[in-house]
Amino acid sequence: MTNRKIALGCDHGGFELKNEIIAHLKECGVEYKDFGTYSSDSCDYPDYAEKACSAVVSGEYDLAILVCGTGIGISMAANKIKGIRAACCSDTFSARFTRLHNDANALCMGGRVVGAGLACDMVDLFINTDFEGGRHQGRIDKVMALENK
Ligand code: RB5
Repeated sequence: MTNRKIALGCDHGGFELKNEIIAHLKECGVEYKDFGTYSSDSCDYPDYAEKACSAVVSGEYDLAILVCGTGIGISMAANKIKGIRAACCSDTFSARFTRLHNDANALCMGGRVVGAGLACDMVDLFINTDFEGGRHQGRIDKVMALENK
């Protein structure tokens, strides 16, 4: 299992799934920090995308795992943060290839979309897969350059 450090964030729509993911990370001995939310009370997903992703951009954590109802809102918010490449996934192929080809540093999922078993498989692939580099690096450079236009 990876020695990457994981920053977690969610809103109320992702709260239950995030807890399942935390239980899984604990079982696997993966180091993580939960940046909230800490209850199922209604809240705003951009706040938690920002908290978890800031910890990745600062270098304190390696990857973020974010959950809202669909995974979409929290991925939109995450992708507004400089240095974040967030991928909203509902299948294991995408979770793996977004590390291999996109060097994604945030995995977003929908707590109302995917079950815990699939989500944990996606997490395992995401946190244990390295970026391939090579021909993909130039594309990532172009993606990141868009932040400064
Ligand atoms: C909250 O009800 C819901 O809108 C949110 O979790 C997310 O699905 C937004 O994209």
